Amino acid sequence: MSRPVDTLLDYLRAEEARGTESVFLDEQAKELLRELHRRAHGPKAPARKPAVVASVSLHEEPEREKSLTPVATITVSGDSSAERIESLKLQAANWAPAKALGTLRETMVFSTGNPEAELMLVGEAPGYQEEKQETPFVGPAGQKLDGILKAMGLEREAVYISNIVKFRPAMPKQTTNNRKPTPEEMASCLAFVREEVRIVKPKCIVALGASAAEGLLGLTGAVGKMRNEWHAFEGIPARVTYHPAYLLHGNAGLKDKRMIWEDMLEVMAKLGLPISEKQQGFFLPK
Ligand code: URA
Repeated sequence: MSRPVDTLLDYLRAEEARGTESVFLDEQAKELLRELHRRAHGPKAPARKPAVVASVSLHEEPEREKSLTPVATITVSGDSSAERIESLKLQAANWAPAKALGTLRETMVFSTGNPEAELMLVGEAPGYQEEKQETPFVGPAGQKLDGILKAMGLEREAVYISNIVKFRPAMPKQTTNNRKPTPEEMASCLAFVREEVRIVKPKCIVALGASAAEGLLGLTGAVGKMRNEWHAFEGIPARVTYHPAYLLHGNAGLKDKRMIWEDMLEVMAKLGLPISEKQQGFFLPK
């Protein structure tokens, strides 16, 4: 079960990662943090049940109540991993911290694939096609991802595919155009990703692109600087690579494919997957 304070901590970590130095915390949010402190440092302090609903705002002025982000609780239920993921999905559809932002669209797109997979891939947010089909990575970027998985010898059904944000980020007069999620949007859904990782228990996670790296791992800057090492999320080894949409740009070439492929070779080695000589040489100049 994700505690209210986990959502608050996710929010604060995301703000810290983007360089925010001060935030306004309302009384309930402060009480959650005091409770955490009491538990960590004061074994004799009476344990008080934290409020189920608290709120936190980035803004200095407490009177700007409109921008308060409610913190809610996730309860995981079910015996199998599939049932447990389904229980998350039902709660995500009406997730108050995401809805309260007012910047995300209505349709919830949760995850796809095997809830017991050894490999979990995390993208940024659903786009037009994903919203239409209510499934992550089914548009052009998804086709690229399928190709990458195929080169690894994996079917998309064998892995678990999710996004940091469970709703398509909204834009004025939006048709098929998509935008990247904001740090607030990512922080609002991160508690679900954490629970997904706890349920699926993958051997390895791949963050697809800069937004996923920021939302999941708190890393900012160029993917090129993050991709050559192992990171961790919830104690699980995590690798950052370019978003598959990177390969859709007109000037993407063999070099770009090779960079993503080298990241995937690392992932395959971590998973203990067989790597043939042919696979080792994919996307090298002839
Ligand atoms: N891009 C993403 O990051 N996620 C999707 O589901 C689709 C495109």
